[in-house]
Amino acid sequence: MKISAVRGVKDILPEEVWKWQFIESASRRIMENFGFSEIRIPVFEYTELFARSIGQGTDIVEKEMYTFQDSKGESLSLRPEGTAGVVRACIDHHRLQPDSVSKLYYTGPMFRHERPQKGRYRQFYQIGAEVFGTDNPWVDAEILSMLHLLFEQLGISGTVLQINSLGCTECRPVYRKALQKFLRNEQASLCTDCRRRTAGNPLRVLDCKRPDCKEATQSAPSVLASLCRDCMAHFEMVKGTLDLMGVPYEVNERLVRGLDYYTRTTFEILTDQLGSQNAVAAGGRYDGLVEQLGGRPTPAIGFALGMERLAALLPEETNHSRAKPLYLAPLGDAAMERMPLLLHQLRARGIPVDTDYLGKSLKSQMRQADRIGAAYVGILGEDELNDGVILLRNMETKAQTKVPLEGFVDQIAETLAGEGA
Ligand code: HAM
Repeated sequence: MKISAVRGVKDILPEEVWKWQFIESASRRIMENFGFSEIRIPVFEYTELFARSIGQGTDIVEKEMYTFQDSKGESLSLRPEGTAGVVRACIDHHRLQPDSVSKLYYTGPMFRHERPQKGRYRQFYQIGAEVFGTDNPWVDAEILSMLHLLFEQLGISGTVLQINSLGCTECRPVYRKALQKFLRNEQASLCTDCRRRTAGNPLRVLDCKRPDCKEATQSAPSVLASLCRDCMAHFEMVKGTLDLMGVPYEVNERLVRGLDYYTRTTFEILTDQLGSQNAVAAGGRYDGLVEQLGGRPTPAIGFALGMERLAALLPEETNHSRAKPLYLAPLGDAAMERMPLLLHQLRARGIPVDTDYLGKSLKSQMRQADRIGAAYVGILGEDELNDGVILLRNMETKAQTKVPLEGFVDQIAETLAGEGA
């Protein structure tokens, strides 16, 4: 019986994989230019790590994690995001020293048991970055300018950066109270989830997609009006620096995010091209999380972008060409016997080359050479073997030359180098 892939999980096939590689290599280049180093963290962690960082009352922890018990009865979960694991790793390895800044990035699959739809998967790939050790608002702006440059270099247009500030441990409780007071008067218009959230997680009500809840919270108090002086000054500085750098943004005072660890600056980059799954990248500051997870108090900020969503926005005309290969077409057993050594020598010189392993006709081998975009085909039949040559065909000009079998590797290396391949 045929077994198909799990619902909400996607194969990335060779025709599409260039998009992932293209996004990854552009991101790595930019992040390394900005002083980030890569960290690779485990795909699963103790469930408690996610519960304590993302928050018990969040959708992710309440209903979206893939959680299982190992044979010792420990509760483990597949990572739904990367921030918690990076913080845990930094604490474990004593990497967060006072008076020092660490910039780390990561890429890899994340897992959330969400209802699958266009742009929303149960296994999806993120590229994320985190900066530890400073609450300087310039760094908030720097992270956003890095994303802005990345999108520009990927040729992605039509996105909007929205920013907000969620305040700190001083002013957030004041806002929370004001919002709860407002929501208690609106209970009749709110959905069951939002009625429940009013007591435990009132900010999330502002993020509910149901039209009734949206309408009921239209005149809810703004988080920005409750910011303390320090948080207000911080937010002004972030905006001023973005203005200075020419990074466009909108302020959205209802932007609250679905994870509990955020403080001060939060942001999302949105597109109108992906239906309801409109966030391509998101993140914010989380100045209390390191301490909450047992590290020394360390302010931090970061983001993650969704690779599937970004890949869907990549312009089709993106230039992702790689070096055109050489194709060797052996005809007959004697010619095929020459292939292993010849291919090995060519590959050892760094020349991309492929061949036919199935004893096919010249016609079908030429078709295969076309399919892989070969620049040259080297034909080795009985006549060529007798004459000690390979017939080299330029697939663009159709010109054919005989190259001595002896010096073939050197000559083809020279020809390709001359063409700048
Ligand atoms: P997040 O908003 O949960 O934040 O996810 C970031 C991005 O991952 C989203 O904007 C979206 O592009 C993508 N994404 C999320 N869920 C899915 C899904 N089911 N299918 C496809 N793509 C998805 C975080 O994960 C935070 N850790 C970001 C962060 C880093 N904050 C501070 N540092």
